[in-house]
Amino acid sequence: MHGFDYASAHVPRGRFNTPGRFGRMFPWLRSLKAFDPGPDELGKVGGAMDGGNPPPTDTTHNNDRMKAGYTFLGQFVDHDLTLDTTSILERQVDLNATTNFRTPAFELDSVYGLGPAVQPYLYDQDRPGQLLVSASGSDLQRNAQGRAIMGDPRNDENTIVSQLHLLFVKFHNKVYETEFADMPHGKARFEAAQTFVRWHYQWLVMNEFLPRLVGRQRAAAAMDDPGFEFETEHAYMPVEFSAAAYRFGHSQVRPGYALGQGRGAALFPGDPDAPFGALDLRGFRPVLPELEVDWAFFFGTTAQPGKKVDTLISTVLLQLPTGVVPKEEPNRHRSLATRNLQRGLDMNLPSGQTVACHLGLPVLGETELWTTNGATVGRGPAPLWFYILREAEVRGGGRRLDGVGAEIVARTFVALMLKDKASYLVQEPGFVPTLGTGGRFTMTDMVNYTLGASLVSEDVATLPGD
Ligand code: HEM
Repeated sequence: MHGFDYASAHVPRGRFNTPGRFGRMFPWLRSLKAFDPGPDELGKVGGAMDGGNPPPTDTTHNNDRMKAGYTFLGQFVDHDLTLDTTSILERQVDLNATTNFRTPAFELDSVYGLGPAVQPYLYDQDRPGQLLVSASGSDLQRNAQGRAIMGDPRNDENTIVSQLHLLFVKFHNKVYETEFADMPHGKARFEAAQTFVRWHYQWLVMNEFLPRLVGRQRAAAAMDDPGFEFETEHAYMPVEFSAAAYRFGHSQVRPGYALGQGRGAALFPGDPDAPFGALDLRGFRPVLPELEVDWAFFFGTTAQPGKKVDTLISTVLLQLPTGVVPKEEPNRHRSLATRNLQRGLDMNLPSGQTVACHLGLPVLGETELWTTNGATVGRGPAPLWFYILREAEVRGGGRRLDGVGAEIVARTFVALMLKDKASYLVQEPGFVPTLGTGGRFTMTDMVNYTLGASLVSEDVATLPGD
C-alpha cells in the first residue's frame, strides 16, 4: 500500500467506556462574569455585529486567503470534534456534567458513526465496506421525512455542508474500492480504508487547513510545541475552543453562494419559517438538483472567496431558521451572535484581554477593540469570541486568526492529534499522503480524486496574509 502501514493504527479508542467531556485550557483565569455583562449588554454587542446581507457583487467582505469551501470544511471539522446538546441559554453550565457527543479527535465519527456493526444502516449492504448514499448518488441517504441518515445530524443543517459530508462519504467509498482492491472484503479491509481516509483527512487538516486559519508560522510552531497538552487520561474539548475561538467560522459565512455555473442561492431565507424551495440552502430535506454543489465554485484557484473573519456577521445568521433552532425559540435566541456571546458567559470563559495577558500577547486597545464603523459598541473586558474576531480583523487583516484566536485553535488542534493514539502524528509522524500531488493532499486533491475533477490547487505557501 505505497508504504502505508494500515496495521499499525489499530489502537483501541475506548469509545465505549468514556463519554466525551468538556474542560478548560485556562482553568485558573478569572471569568468575564466577574465584570457582569448582563444579557442586555450582550444583546447590544451582538446587535452591533450585524453585517447585513451584502449582494455577491459587493467584494469588500471577500477573504482572499480562504475560498468559500473552507468555511464549510470548518463547520464539518467542528461537527467531527464537538457537540454540546445542552444549549439552553442563560443558565449556568456545569462543565463536568456536560457530555460531548462527539469524540474530540479528528476521526470522522460524524461520517462513520459507530461503525458497520453498531450502525449498519449507515452502510451499503450491497457494497460491503462502503457507506450508503441516495439512489441517484447526488445526495445523502434520507428517511421517509427527508432527514439525512448520518453520524451527526448537524451535517445536514445546510445544503453545502451536507454535500461536503457526501464528498467525504464518496471519498471513503472510492478509497475502499480502489486503494484496497487486493484485500478480501471484511473488517480488516474496512479498517484499513478507514485509517487511510482518516490519515489523509488529518494530514489535510494539519497541513492545509490549520496554516490557512492561523498562518504558516504559527501552525508550524504549534506542531513543534503545542504549548498545551491534556494531562487527563483522555482528551477533552476545551470550552475556550468550542464556545469561543472555533466559532470564528460564523463570521466567514456569506449570505448566499454561487453553487455552479449560473446557479446560486441564499444560505437561509429572510423569514425563518418560509416554505422550502430552491431559493435558499436550508437543510434537513432532500437536495434539489438546482442546489447541488459544484466544488469548482468552492475549492481551487477559481473558486468564490469566503467572507472575512471579522466582527460582522451576515444577517442570515442573526435570524436562524426553524430547524437550525427549535420552532418555539424566542427571537432574541435566533441570533447566532448573541447565542455565542451568551454561551461564553454561561461557560464562565475569561475575557479576551485576560487570555492575551496570560499568553504574553499584545492586548488590543480599548478603541481598536470596541469601535465598529466609527461607533463605540462596548467597553472594558471583552467576550472571548468577540475579542478573537476583532483580533482577526485588525491584526490578521480579516484573512485569518491572530494572537489569542490563533493560539487557542492551533494548540487545540495539535493537542487533540497528539492525544489520539491512532492519529498519524502519533503512529507515523513522517506520514506522507499517497493521494494528491507531490506528497501533499489538499481539499482540491480530495475533490479531484473522488469525483475525477481537475481543479487547480492553491499553493498554501504563497497565500496572502502569512
Ligand atoms: C454555515 C452556517 C453555520 C450555522 C447556521 C451554524 C450554526 C450554529 C449553531 C446554531 C450553533 C449552536 C449555538 C449555541 O446554541 O451555542 C453552532 C455552534 C457551533 N458552531 Fe456553528 N454554524 C455555522 C457554521 C460554523 C462554522 C463555519 C464553524 C467553524 C469554522 C462553526 C463552529 C461552531 C462551533 C465550534 C460551535 C459549538 C459546537 C458545540 O460545542 O456544540 N460553525 N453553530
